[in-house]
Amino acid sequence: MYNLSHLISQIQSSPTLALNDIANQLKEGGADVINLGIGEPLNDFPESVLRITSEFLDSRQVKYSPTSGTQSLKLAIQDYTRDHYGRKPGLKNITVTVGAKQAIYNLLQVLLNPGDEVILFSPYWVSYPEMVKLARGIPVFVGTNDEFIPDMETIKGALTEKTQAILLNTPNNPTGAVYPPELVAALVDLCESKDIFLIMDDIYHQLLFEPAQWVPGYVFTSKKFDKSHLVIINGISKTFGMTGFRIGWAIGPETVIQAMNKIQSHSTSGASSLLQEAAVGALTQGGDTLSDLKKFIRTNRDILVGELKKIKGVKVNEPGGTFYCFPDFRSIHHNSQELARLLLEKAFLATVPGIAFGQEGFLRLSFTCSTDEIIKSAARIRWVIDPESSPEIIIGGQKMVRDWELSK
Ligand SMILES: Cc1ncc(COP(=O)(O)O)c(C=O)c1O
Repeated sequence: MYNLSHLISQIQSSPTLALNDIANQLKEGGADVINLGIGEPLNDFPESVLRITSEFLDSRQVKYSPTSGTQSLKLAIQDYTRDHYGRKPGLKNITVTVGAKQAIYNLLQVLLNPGDEVILFSPYWVSYPEMVKLARGIPVFVGTNDEFIPDMETIKGALTEKTQAILLNTPNNPTGAVYPPELVAALVDLCESKDIFLIMDDIYHQLLFEPAQWVPGYVFTSKKFDKSHLVIINGISKTFGMTGFRIGWAIGPETVIQAMNKIQSHSTSGASSLLQEAAVGALTQGGDTLSDLKKFIRTNRDILVGELKKIKGVKVNEPGGTFYCFPDFRSIHHNSQELARLLLEKAFLATVPGIAFGQEGFLRLSFTCSTDEIIKSAARIRWVIDPESSPEIIIGGQKMVRDWELSK
C-alpha cells in the first residue's frame, strides 16, 4: 500500500525479535523464563555516575551538547585512551555518539561510496552487515576457524579494488574469541599497505579473562592519529553495564571524525549532555564496578562452559572475553532457530540462534544473569537435547517430562 525505499527492503529486522516476543509472552503468562539472549550486564552503574549526573542536573545547564561531544567527556576519553591504548588522541580525533552503534553507523556513512566493500568476519555481530548496506556498501564475509579466528590468507583473498575497510571486533560478539596480537598486527599492516581502513570495535576490550590478552591496534603502527588507517570504536555500555545511557565514541583521523560530525549534526545533533556527564563519572571513577562485573561474569562463564562441556554432542570454546559463549550444537540439531524455539517453548530458556550471526547450528548464550540461573540453564539445555539425561525436570516448581526426540 505504501511505497517505502528500495534500501529499507534490503535490511533485515533482528531475527531475535520473534523469539523475544515469545519469551515475553511466556513470562507474562507466569512461566519461569531464563533469558540468556540479552547482551547486557545486569549490574548497577557506578556510584560516581549518580553523583556527577545529579550535580549536572542541579546546575540546570542541560542544554545542547557540542555535536562532537562535551569538552569534559572528550577529555575523559583522551585520558582513557592514553591509559588503555598507550596513545593520547587530540580532541579533534574524538567524536561522541549515541552508543557505539551510532559511531559505527556514522563511520560507514562517511567511508563508503555505493558498491564499496567492507570485510566482516563471520560469525559477525548482527548489525554490521545491515549497517554496511544502509551506507550503500556491500558486506563481504570471511569465515573463521574452529576457534573463530580468521586467517590472513583468506582475508587477503577477499580484498578487491572495492574494499574500503575491514571491521573487526575483539573480544568478539557472539563468540567471546579474542584475536591473537599477531593477527591484529598483520591486519594493521595490510590496511596501511592497501590504504584502506581498519575499524576496530573495542566495545568489550575490558571484559577480558586472563590469560587472554587484548592488545590495542595502535601498538602496531607508528602513524600519528591524523595519518592512521585505524578507527577505534568504544563506549560505556558493556564495560560499565550502562547500556541505557547510550554513550559511545570513535577515535580516528581528524578528516574522518569531522565528516562523522557533519552526519551527526544533521541527525541526532549529538548525544545527551546529561548522559555524557554520566559517562565522565564512569570513565573516571567506575573501576570498582568493572572489577566486580568481571569477577561475576568470570564465575558464570566457568560454570556455564564447564556444564556445557559435560553434555554429549555439544562443543564449546572457552570465551577469552565478553559475556557470551557460542556453543556448537551441529551434531545434535543443525537448525539454530528451531533449536532456540524448542529450548524456549519446552524449557523456558531464551537464547539467540547462531543464524542471526551468520553461523548455523550454533546458539549464542549470554552469561550475565544470576549464577543460580546459569546453573538452571545448563540443566535445562541438557534436559532438552540429551536423550540420555533424566526425562524429568522441575521448572518453576512444576515437573516436566521430555516427550520428544531431536533429529539432526
Ligand atoms: C560488537 C558490538 N558493537 C557495538 C555494540 C553497540 O554498543 P552500544 O550499546 O554502545 O551502542 C554492541 C552491542 O551489543 C556490540 O555487541
